[in-house]
Amino acid sequence: MIELNQLELAAQTFTPGARVAVLTGAGISKESGIPTFREAQTGLWAQFDPQQLATPDAFRRDPDLVWAWYRHRAAVCDKASPNAGHLALHRLEDLVRQVVVLTQNVDGLHVRAGSTDVVELHGSLARYKCSRNCQGSPTFIDIADVSHNDEHAPLCPHCGEPVRPDVVWFGEPLRSSVLRRATVVARTCNIMMIVGTSGLVHPAASLPALARDGGATIIEINPDRTPITPLAHTFLQGPSGEVLPQLIDVIAARREAAEGSRESSDR
Ligand code: OAD
Repeated sequence: MIELNQLELAAQTFTPGARVAVLTGAGISKESGIPTFREAQTGLWAQFDPQQLATPDAFRRDPDLVWAWYRHRAAVCDKASPNAGHLALHRLEDLVRQVVVLTQNVDGLHVRAGSTDVVELHGSLARYKCSRNCQGSPTFIDIADVSHNDEHAPLCPHCGEPVRPDVVWFGEPLRSSVLRRATVVARTCNIMMIVGTSGLVHPAASLPALARDGGATIIEINPDRTPITPLAHTFLQGPSGEVLPQLIDVIAARREAAEGSRESSDR
């Protein structure tokens, strides 16, 4: 349980006019039952290292294996629901000027929780594309339109190359429009919260330093310390499904108290 004074200290910066950026990683979805990226995968996938599968080479070598792994991950995400941490970020939108979620996750849970401005830095399990982008980058493919199953990567209806998930793999660049928006948001926010990421993968992991250079208050929420922790003005150590709702409750209570005292002084 986080000390109340730590939450109060963090809550002070969330004024009604605050522009808030939230960089999230797999940790925020842990309490939805989705394994984090670097912990052991479950079941038959436990024998595989995600960092060996999430690569263009792995897909070139064995498109069906990589396709099956992503279809497995998509099925896990479809069964999962947003947790109290995702929902707290949606609730924050009513308390400040702007909340932009910069997520490394591909599980779609922020959008399903109701967050209205989500930048999917690493793509989404819900989108698929031609592995050659034969009609231009990206060439999205609706897999409902092509015969497919969970074992074999379907073929692009335009060029016959295998279809792949629209996610960023190791060694691949982020979509330039996505990186541009994330960089502007990081540079111009008043507060950046970093929630549930090991801070190991760039350029996402470089965004907190950009925000700090831009004068933002940095708040990290994680059960463990990370390479980003030294940058944080406040480190709230704990699971985000508990800490985020506690923080938003304190922000809301301060707001009600301020409005209450304004009303009584107006009388
Ligand atoms: P990781 O698995 O690297 O890190 C998960 C983080 O969540 C760790 O710092 C954990 O301490 C923390 N964590 C665990 N349980 C938590 C909880 N209940 N609440 C809050 N935090 C918790 O996952 P990411 O940092 O997201 O990119 O990995 C970043 C990127 O690495 C992924 O997007 C993926 C991978 O390369 C691509 O695939 C391109």
